[in-house]
Amino acid sequence: MKIAVIGTGYVGLVTGTCFANSGNDITCIDIDEKKITGLKNGVIPIYEPGLKELVLRNAEAGRLHFTTDTPTAVKTAEMVYLAVGTPQGDDGSADLSAMWAVTKAIAPHLQEDAIVVTKSTVPVGTNAKIFGMLKELTGRECHVASNPEFLKEGAAIDDFMKPDRVVVGVRCQEVSDKLHQLYAPFLRTEKPFLSMSPESAEMTKYVANALLATKISFINEMANLCEKMGGDINDVRRGIGHDSRIGFAFLFPGVGYGGSCFPKDVRALTAMTEDKGNLPEMLRAVDNVNERQKTVLFTKVKEQFGGDLGGKRIAVWGLAFKPETDDIREAPALVLIKQLQEAGATVIAHDPEAMDNVQAETSGVEFADRAIDAIKGADALCICTDWKAYHQPDFAEMYQLMAQPIVFDGRNLYDPERMKARGYCYHSIGRVA
Ligand code: UGA
Repeated sequence: MKIAVIGTGYVGLVTGTCFANSGNDITCIDIDEKKITGLKNGVIPIYEPGLKELVLRNAEAGRLHFTTDTPTAVKTAEMVYLAVGTPQGDDGSADLSAMWAVTKAIAPHLQEDAIVVTKSTVPVGTNAKIFGMLKELTGRECHVASNPEFLKEGAAIDDFMKPDRVVVGVRCQEVSDKLHQLYAPFLRTEKPFLSMSPESAEMTKYVANALLATKISFINEMANLCEKMGGDINDVRRGIGHDSRIGFAFLFPGVGYGGSCFPKDVRALTAMTEDKGNLPEMLRAVDNVNERQKTVLFTKVKEQFGGDLGGKRIAVWGLAFKPETDDIREAPALVLIKQLQEAGATVIAHDPEAMDNVQAETSGVEFADRAIDAIKGADALCICTDWKAYHQPDFAEMYQLMAQPIVFDGRNLYDPERMKARGYCYHSIGRVA
């Protein structure tokens, strides 16, 4: 199929590239000329494992093109995927200005039976609004489908290639069939293709993210309680997870969820709930618990040093909001760094991918090329992201290098008993050392 994908952010680029890889003819469009020039030259604007190789391979095969020329690409497209950004607006709701601008830009060039598909996360009812706008602009009823994405950053290619399910929101069977055909190569392991109304599809996306965020805030609250009660959240997690109604996934306690999706989507759903006159009590609690959780490491650090961090050198390992990405949007590490600096500490940070991004957004942070260099002379080490590289450090070498062997582990990477035996003062989440 000939498909135009508008927006070469993380969602658009992964979507376009994976569709090209299954044999479709894809043109990725963006208004950002620098980005498009870069992509034409094999420069990928984000770090996502496997993406660069896949872009290069499909571009070379002539199935993946990049342009800033929307009219030309849309004119010949059977499908037009909309994957532009929908950032959080000032009131917590999604800012849809890019979506409306693109709808206007494509309207005059759409083929008679082209299918416009919304891929960005958009408030429920957006699909209907685009349908209405296109009717006004073109004088006919265009096909507008919704196709929410469930990709995780850092595992986006794999998630796209092997989805748990594909959800589409459509107004007629014909459009559902065409989308099913497009996704058939990715559903060969009998994973379901779920066709529903555009409103249900839009709602599905938010409900999925809000429920996952709820699981994280819930387990974090329970972890904090475990610390007070003398329990171990890892054991509790095991104790509940074997109940098949509960399961193990997304119940790892930590320093709170970050990223471009959970925080933004929970707030957007909150705004939608309020807008319709309902009380978003659960959603508000999920967000509040998460904001507080981002400060737990700082609270522990402050307690350890009797409230005085003046002159202390604190190493921070892990800046990205999760491993395998350079994304620092809403990253818990940023909150910790700010609190440490405000309390008078010097921060020496390390991350395998995200240091440049943090450097651009902070001041006064020292950066270390290697994790081990960050802890030289440090009074404590804080771990915010569970990068594989931090799982098995040389504890003996670390012990020698640190000014004080104190570790605040926000991702429960190490065994408390062993850390004690190695001579460390070790703090983690929901476990007593
Ligand atoms: C999330 C969803 O998992 C995807 O299904 C969805 O498509 C995506 O948002 C989106 O809406 O675009 P993502 O934000 O990339 O994906 O990252 P996750 O792997 O879900 O992690 C989110 C945050 O939760 C991270 O900060 C992570 O450290 C934290 N987390 C996750 C925990 O603290 N505990 C857990 O058990 C799991």
